[in-house]
Amino acid sequence: MSGTLYYDTRYDSTREVCHWIVDGIRHKAVAIQRIGEVKPGQNADEFIIIGSPIYVGKPLASVSEFIRSKKDRWIHKPVFVFVTSWAEATMYRHECNRFLDLVISQLSPIKPVLSRSLPGKLLLEQTTQRDQNVMRRLLRRINAMSEEFHAEAAQFTDMRNQEECRQFGKDIETALMGQEGDPNHLV
Ligand SMILES: Cc1cc2nc3c(=O)[nH]c(=O)nc-3n(C[C@H](O)[C@H](O)[C@H](O)COP(=O)(O)O)c2cc1C
Repeated sequence: MSGTLYYDTRYDSTREVCHWIVDGIRHKAVAIQRIGEVKPGQNADEFIIIGSPIYVGKPLASVSEFIRSKKDRWIHKPVFVFVTSWAEATMYRHECNRFLDLVISQLSPIKPVLSRSLPGKLLLEQTTQRDQNVMRRLLRRINAMSEEFHAEAAQFTDMRNQEECRQFGKDIETALMGQEGDPNHLV
C-alpha cells in the first residue's frame, strides 16, 4: 500500500512537519508532494494525507482548491488531514478544531479517517511586512475579544514538535493496518 502526503506552505516550516509525519510511517511507502509541484494525471495513491498551515483562520487557498479538484478521486480511499498553526501551542488550542473542521468540510462527503492539529512555526520578524501587519491586526482582534489574552506577551517561536508529528504518522499507519484487517500490524 502506498500513498502521498500533499501539502503547501508559505514560509516552508510545514515541509519539515511533513517529513516528521512520514518518519512515523515505517511500513508503507509515502511520497511527499508540495501542491503546485504535483504533475497532472497522478492517481495511483491508495491513501492520501493532506496538510496546510493556517492563515487568518483558514487553510491556504491552494490546499482548498486542490481538495476541491481532487476529492472525487479520493472517495473510496483513506484520507488523513492535518493543520499547523500558531494557536495550537497557545491557550487557544481549542480553536484549532475549527480550523480542522473547515478542511474536513471541504472534503465532504469524504470523512477523514484521522485528523490532527499540530503546532507550527511563526517567527514574525521573518515574515513579510504585509504578513506582520495582518498578524498584528489578528492579535488586536483576539485582544479585543478576550480579557485573558495579552497580545504583547504572545510568543512567536518555532513551536513544532517532531515527536508529536511522528506520533501522527504512527497513528496513520495503525489506522491503515486496521483498515487492511492485518492482525500482525506493527506500531
Ligand atoms: C499572516 C499570518 C497569519 C496567520 N494566521 C494564523 C491564524 O489565524 N491562526 C493561527 O493559529 N496561526 C496563524 N498563523 C501562524 C501559521 O499558521 C504558522 O506560522 C504556520 O506554522 C506557518 O506554516 P508555514 O511556514 O508552512 O507557512 C499566521 C501566520 C501569519 C504569518
